[in-house]
Amino acid sequence: MNAVFPGSFDPITSGHMDVLTRASRIFDHVTLTVMHNARKTGRHLFTLEERVAVLQEATAHFSNVSVDSFGGLLVDYMRQQQKGIIIRGLRAVSDYEYELQIAHLNRQIGEVETVFIMAATRWSFVSSTMVKEIASYGGDVSEMVPRASASALRRKFAEVYAEREVEQGR
Ligand code: PNS
Repeated sequence: MNAVFPGSFDPITSGHMDVLTRASRIFDHVTLTVMHNARKTGRHLFTLEERVAVLQEATAHFSNVSVDSFGGLLVDYMRQQQKGIIIRGLRAVSDYEYELQIAHLNRQIGEVETVFIMAATRWSFVSSTMVKEIASYGGDVSEMVPRASASALRRKFAEVYAEREVEQGR
């Protein structure tokens, strides 16, 4: 059975990696798919190409994981690619309500099943949003993200710091 682990992955965290590792032991093949929306590009720190490159680097050691991207409805992607099952990670009860709604809607509009995998408790407070927040102030996120994400964050915020210094006339 094949599965798709969709997400924004802006950037991929250790929590995502944990869910992916577990999924790769359960399913024959797992596709990590960066879902993107051309009208919402400004919401992300990393471009689609950057996110795909980080995912490829972070998952190179898996023999049954591949990386893809798609702009549109997840159910259309699942149908077009005959991808099987959707995987989503759950960190805490707070994720459940949102994920439950999406899973029901995806089954209603596309007859696609979702399987939830619980991330290890040590990652329950880690999110891409918080990682970006910490990294933007120069905090250490190396435990919370794979090495590829940490390097990409360093590169990204180096640009931001340089731009700020130029703006401030330093
Ligand atoms: O990592 P995220 O941001 O929690 O992932 C959410 C994502 C990208 C999986 C979800 O927003 C999604 O599936 N977007 C594609 C558009 C879509 O199908 N939306 C309808 C769901 S009912």
